[in-house]
Amino acid sequence: MAQNGVGFGMRAGILGTGSALPKKVLTNQDLEKIVDTSDEWIVTRTGIRERRIAEAAEATSDYALLAGQRALASAGIQAEDLDMIMVSTVTPDMLFPSTASLVQDRLGATHAAAFDLEAACTGFMYGDFLASALVNSGQCRYVLVISADLLSRITDYEDRSTCVLFGDGAGAAVVGLVPEDKGFLSFHLGSDGAGGKFLYMPGGGSRMPASEESVKSRQHFLKMEGQETFKYAVRAMGVSVERVLSDAHLDMADVDLLVPHQANIRIIEAIRNRLHLDPAKVMYTIEKYGNTSASSIPIALDEAVKQGKVHPGQVALMVGFGAGMTWGAIAVRL
Ligand code: ACO
Repeated sequence: MAQNGVGFGMRAGILGTGSALPKKVLTNQDLEKIVDTSDEWIVTRTGIRERRIAEAAEATSDYALLAGQRALASAGIQAEDLDMIMVSTVTPDMLFPSTASLVQDRLGATHAAAFDLEAACTGFMYGDFLASALVNSGQCRYVLVISADLLSRITDYEDRSTCVLFGDGAGAAVVGLVPEDKGFLSFHLGSDGAGGKFLYMPGGGSRMPASEESVKSRQHFLKMEGQETFKYAVRAMGVSVERVLSDAHLDMADVDLLVPHQANIRIIEAIRNRLHLDPAKVMYTIEKYGNTSASSIPIALDEAVKQGKVHPGQVALMVGFGAGMTWGAIAVRL
């Protein structure tokens, strides 16, 4: 068992990040051939130009594994050193066993416990929160937090109001002890199940197991009320950001990079305007990847680190929302 770092000049933080995306690109022009839409509508309403789509033979664990391996390499940690692996996903390879267990086996993480967590697009916020608690309490030394989704698998390509939005991908972080002038500074998480009706997938669970009828009536695809989700997102992310800043005794001026969930450029810009932030201090990946669910924040964080948009010692503010409704934000000094 690891020694509790709190009070020993150490606390939980991010040791390394990684991400993985399919090679195949689905452009707005490709979508124009599938549904009644246009590049112009998609770009102005969402900011998306293209997204990545996994091959038919691939599954979520393939990308979760790659992102996890890359995060371990960037942290300089061996898979055998991991105590815990969490995968947040709404598109597991199967309902069970967990995608995390499949990844644990393929990683060779022989000493790690593994489980999936489900908080939709907010999964990376929930995963980091848990990982931080496990590391700060001394229960775990190294935790691999992966967020991975192949949303293309549950996207209805006959529904133009949703199919233009989503893409596939995975992102990951290794959480462990860092010197206490770095690491996680504050968290805020929320949930409001009353908003569940705005974004959900009815079929395939215990309420509506798969049947000929459920398949015929397209119940195994994501359903969304876009405008309600939009309003919810702007409100919840704004509240979350303000909470983490005040809990960490930070001003927006102390934040070096905002890493928001990439759902819609207009949502990101609404948050940016509310916070009076310069666009140079915001990470955008929406244009090339669309909404990749829980993986959008760790993918954006990983790219920001690799592109030098945020440096060791600087403060990143991650904020997300998703089905549930769920939302959350994290302030972290890298
Ligand atoms: N191409 C062309 N026209 C379209 C398309 C399309 N792809 N989709 C919808 N339209 C039409 C509608 O039919 C409607 O036509 P009408 O006025 O004749 O009825 C018109 O465009 C406007 O539709 P709205 O739904 O009002 O468009 P809106 O500006 O709200 O944009 C969107 C829709 C992009 C879905 C937006 O509401 C949104 O981004 N919402 C948030 C979604 C979100 O963030 N989801 C992710 C949550 S996180 C997670 O867990 C996955």
